[in-house]
Amino acid sequence: MAELTLENIKKECASCAKCPLAKTRTNLVFGVGNPQAKLMFIGEAPGEQEDLQGEPFVGAAGKLFDKYLAAVGIAREEVYIANILKCRPPKNRDPLPEEQDACIGHLRAQVKAIRPKMIVCLGRISAMRLIKPDFKITREHGQFVRKGSFDICAVYHPSALLRDAAKKDEMLADMIMIKQKYDAL
Ligand code: URA
Repeated sequence: MAELTLENIKKECASCAKCPLAKTRTNLVFGVGNPQAKLMFIGEAPGEQEDLQGEPFVGAAGKLFDKYLAAVGIAREEVYIANILKCRPPKNRDPLPEEQDACIGHLRAQVKAIRPKMIVCLGRISAMRLIKPDFKITREHGQFVRKGSFDICAVYHPSALLRDAAKKDEMLADMIMIKQKYDAL
């Protein structure tokens, strides 16, 4: 077995054919940021811009997310950002359960290599996969739970905020709380 480094995991992802999305993607969207990050953000799957640029959260939702990071004083470079899926689902449809099953091992390997102290799920799909299957984002966003060696919570997905601006205050409150917890590590 190759040593568990992000570089080796990325190579595995690049040659992965466990689901059909590898055939339709433009670029692998592996993840970006500090390999020793204490804080990881995990979204759902690459969209169009991410697929074109090979980096998570660089489209409209990503630009909004960057504003929240800046607003609370977290540098994008100091955290690590990844997704449940590494390849774009056609037309941005929700990831299928079998695609998530096929891809989740890559994310678990990333988490093992990075060993973050805090994980923040971006949106319902990520929270349902990483926290609990019946996670209710409107009720449970911003609530940390302990899982193994890290604390994990979920916030609204930035695309949900683009659709419903009324959620933006809650998102800012969650991000402020996350930054306070992060500062206290
Ligand atoms: N939405 C996600 O969940 N992830 C991205 O990388 C972009 C949009």
